[in-house]
Formats: sequence, C-alpha cells, structure tokens
Amino acid sequence: TRVFISRDMASVALGADEVARAFADAGCEVVRTGSHGLFVIEPLVEVEAGDRRIAYGPVTPADVAAILDGTHPNCLGEIAALPFFARQQRFTFARCGIVDPLSLADYAAHGGWIGLDIARAAEPQAVVDAVKASGLRGRGGAGFPTGIKWQTVLDAPGATKYIVCNADEGDSGTFADRMLMEGDPFCLIEGMAIAAHAVGASHGYIYIRSEYPFAIQTMRDAIALSAGRIAPFTLEVRAGAGAYVCGEETALLDSIEGRRGQVRAKPPLPALSGLFGKPTVINNVLSLAAVPFILAEGAEAYANVGFGRSRGTMPVQLAGNVKHGGLFEVGFGITLGELVNDIGGGTASGRPVRAVQVGGPLGAYFPPSMFDLPFDYEAFTAAGGLIGHAGITVFDDSVDMAHMARFAMEFCAAESCGKCTPCRIGSTRGVEIMDRIIAGRPVPSSVRPELVEGPSFSADVERKNSPSTSSGQTGFLDQALYSRAPDRIDVSLGAQTALLRDLCDTMKYGSLCALGGFTPYPVLSALDHFPEDFGAPAPVLA
Ligand code: NAI
Ligand code: SF4
Repeated sequence: TRVFISRDMASVALGADEVARAFADAGCEVVRTGSHGLFVIEPLVEVEAGDRRIAYGPVTPADVAAILDGTHPNCLGEIAALPFFARQQRFTFARCGIVDPLSLADYAAHGGWIGLDIARAAEPQAVVDAVKASGLRGRGGAGFPTGIKWQTVLDAPGATKYIVCNADEGDSGTFADRMLMEGDPFCLIEGMAIAAHAVGASHGYIYIRSEYPFAIQTMRDAIALSAGRIAPFTLEVRAGAGAYVCGEETALLDSIEGRRGQVRAKPPLPALSGLFGKPTVINNVLSLAAVPFILAEGAEAYANVGFGRSRGTMPVQLAGNVKHGGLFEVGFGITLGELVNDIGGGTASGRPVRAVQVGGPLGAYFPPSMFDLPFDYEAFTAAGGLIGHAGITVFDDSVDMAHMARFAMEFCAAESCGKCTPCRIGSTRGVEIMDRIIAGRPVPSSVRPELVEGPSFSADVERKNSPSTSSGQTGFLDQALYSRAPDRIDVSLGAQTALLRDLCDTMKYGSLCALGGFTPYPVLSALDHFPEDFGAPAPVLA
C-alpha cells in the first residue's frame, strides 16, 4: 500500500515523522510530501486507492491498522473536496501536498518546467511583458509591480546581474514561503530561472532565515538535483543570522555581501545598483513562485482572477487564535470576514473575535466592524492598514490592545538596525509612553489579571540598543521635560495619547525603512479602533 504523509515542519511538529515510521514498519510504501496547509487535520495520511487518495487526519502511530482496513473514524475522503480546499484557487501552491518535493519526475509530471521552456524559447522582453500583463505585484508586502521591477533590471546596463530571492519571512504568523520551499522547491527554482532569462542574469541567491533549517536543506538538495535543468543559470542558498531587518531588501544585500545587515538609503534602487553594486532583481519567494504558472498558463489566466489592481491569487496565512489555521490561496477580493469567520472558523478558544492583525507585526489591527474589507492592496491602504505578506493573526476578546501597541514599539526597538533616529530612539520612547498610558488608565474589562502590570521592557532590548538608548538614557525625554518644567508636564491620558500620535507621525514620515515607518500602523490602529483600552470611551457603532 502506498501512503502520502507530509514532511513539512508544521506537520512534523505535530507528529508526522512518528506516523510515517509506523506506516513504514507496517510494510507500506511511504511517500513524504509537502503539506496541504490545513493544520487542524495534521498529521494527515492519504492512502492511495486507484487514482484517488483517501485522507485520514489527525492520526497517531497507533491508528495504522484502522486506517489500512478503512475503519478509522477520522476519514476525510478526498482532500480537494473538503470545503477549506474546494474554495481555494491554487495557482502557486497547486503541487504542494501532492508531490514528493525532491522528485524531479513528480515535478515534471505535474506541469513543472513548462513555464521555463516557454520563457527560454522567447525573447527576454516578451517574458517581462508577460509578467507585466499578469498584473503580478510584489508578494513580500509592498505590492510593487514585478514586471516593472524586471524591466528596470533588463534595461540596466551591465554584463553581470543577479537574481535574489528574499526568503527571510520574518512576519509573525506567516509561513507561506517556508511551506513552498519545503513542499515544492523546484517551483521557486523555476521562477528564478525564468527571472534570470528575462533580465540576463547568470547567478542567483536564495536568502533564507536561519530559523528555517529544513527549508534551507530542502532548497540546497533541490538546487543540486535541478542544476542540470536550469544550467547555465546557477543558484546558491545563504542562511540569515536571525535579524528581522535583514528581510528589508538592502539590509539583506549587505548580509549576503558578508556585512552586518543594515538598511541602505534608496536611491540607488537595487534594480540598478544592488548586490555587489550590480543590477539585481530582488523578489519574495511567492512573487518568484507565481511566475512559472504565469508563463505556463498565460498572463491572462493569472490576470483574470483578482480584484481592482490586485490581480491573481494570494496565499493567505491564517494564524493565531483561529480554529482552522493554515494556508488559503485565493483570488484577491475575498473579504476579511470571510477569511476569519467562514474559512478560519472563528477563534480556537470559542470566544468572540475582537481583533485581527493583517500584515505581520507592522500591520494594522482591525475590529470585526471592518470585516467587509476586501482583500486588496488599495482597499487595505485606504483603511489605514496593509495586506503585507498576507499573514492574518486572530485575537479573541481577552486581548488587551494597549499591550499590543506596546508590543509593536518594543518589537521595533528590539529589531531596529539603529541607522535612523525616529526608529532607533522613537521606538524606545514609544514603549515608555505606552507604559505611562497602561499605568494611568482604568483597567479595561478584557484585561487578564496577569497582564495588568505589563511585561517589563526586556533586558535584551536594553542591551541590544546600548549605548545610544541604554538604561542610563531610558526616560531621558521625561527627565529633560521634568527638569525644565516640573509642574507643567502633563501626564494625563489625553496628553500621552497625543504625544503617542505625534511620535507615530515622526516615525512614519522620518524613518528610513518600513520597520520604523510601519510600526505606527499597529499602534495607531489599536488606538483608533480600540480607544477603550487606552482609557478613552469606546467608539459608538452605527
Ligand atoms: P518599497 O515600496 O520601498 O519597495 C518595493 C520594491 O519595489 C523594492 O524592491 C524596491 O526596490 C522596488 N522598486 C521601487 N521603485 C522601483 C522602480 N522604479 N523600479 C524598480 N524597482 C522599484 O517597499 P519595501 O521597503 O521593499 O518593502 C516594504 C514592505 O515589506 C511592507 O509593505 C511590508 O508589508 C513588507 N514586509 C514584509 C515582511 C515579510 O516577512 N515578508 C517583513 C517586513 C515587512
Ligand atoms: Fe534601521 Fe529602523 Fe531606520 Fe529601518 S527605520 S533604517 S530598521 S533604524
């Protein structure tokens, strides 16, 4: 009997390796795949039955006999028929969960390499035009048109050009890059080889965060296996060293060059002067992995799906306090409420949803009253947020939004590269303001007793920011104000929230990169949509 079991790290964390071993011990042929992306049914086993696969999940090693004789109660039938999967449009993740990630034969049998062959038979400009026509926009978060970025690199003078894949995936609650690299690595390789042909590059780098050791190994294995297929293009993997800011494209380039990852001022754009000063395409995993489909199926097939100026599909990642967490690839335009309630099934705790954060730690918080928002770059910008890398983190009604705002500032202080003042100093001042607000407000009813004191500003952050914001200087602004006008300092909640807004303004418009520039999104959205947690009256809903 042939069975299929995921070896994606999320499945392994839930016990997939033990289940695979039990089936092998029972004499089955075990094929390890990527994950289909619905974690509540993992570890998942699919048993081959003719040309169908019958799924069981979640399962344990003790379930082998019941699964093999077809009596196990967790029989799910065919995966594709489950509502979670039936509603998806899998362009990028079509093979994930189905193929053996390191089988070249499997990849070719499921449509692999068609896009590369079509691209290589065409002129570079025609390939760039196809990507432009597809409407594909940067899936790392900024949403810049991929075809225009490639055009800039194609037109840039110079014999040496590079393709760099940003696989630093630092956003909390996101895992799509990892899933793709672990579940369908040849897809990313093919996308990079197409990019190389389009702009005239001969070498590429995949920069993967060190927290993804299995993705690093899988990509290295896949590169070795496919070297002949993508030649003369060559690829190598570089592992990050744990800094969030190295996901910022210029800090990432510094890191590959062997230096401490620090943000570079733009211009020059990396497209013109990037890695080692050469014209460089730098794209997120999901942008590059969308390209084989676009070339193979045609730009129109991709562009026909979507909403407004957001074309094609987005692999949305549902995480946090949500019943059906996982990866849901769908055309733009689905509403936030559909994603959280219909697809996600509401909270895992069973309590009411109070807030969702979209776009990682730099994304805005939205209350359920805004759940009719369509998933679309422009709609989210207009609503004071961003879709970012499409991570959605769900919180129930026990969340304290003032602490979430404080966390955003603390995260920024911990991860700041220190190059510019609004971010380096502002984030620490922001933590201090939030501490004063939390100390001065009436405790909101949602707050759990253990959080009332608030987490202390960690020694780690103090150490990391030393000496510019060392403990000797923490509270510097307070001290200066007090010593100049001890009786005139206004520590009222109103004055402190006004100061917080002022600080956010400075960070938003004065920071060099998105880390300092976007930290105001979670802070201000928490303040705007959940004022009652900051000591102000709750907003009146129409
Ligand atoms: P950006 O708007 O400055 O640039 C977007 C991209 O377009 C860059 O690659 C830039 O070099 C390129 N570009 C801009 N103008 C161009 C032109 N005329 N020709 C060619 N290329 C051009 O945004 P940035 O700073 O690169 O990214 C910010 C985003 O990153 C945020 O929206 C946030 O959502 C996201 N982010 C994602 C994370 C993740 O884990 N995926 C983590 C943190 C932030
Ligand atoms: Fe560095 Fe922060 Fe400035 Fe970005 S905003 S360059 S992370 S100090």
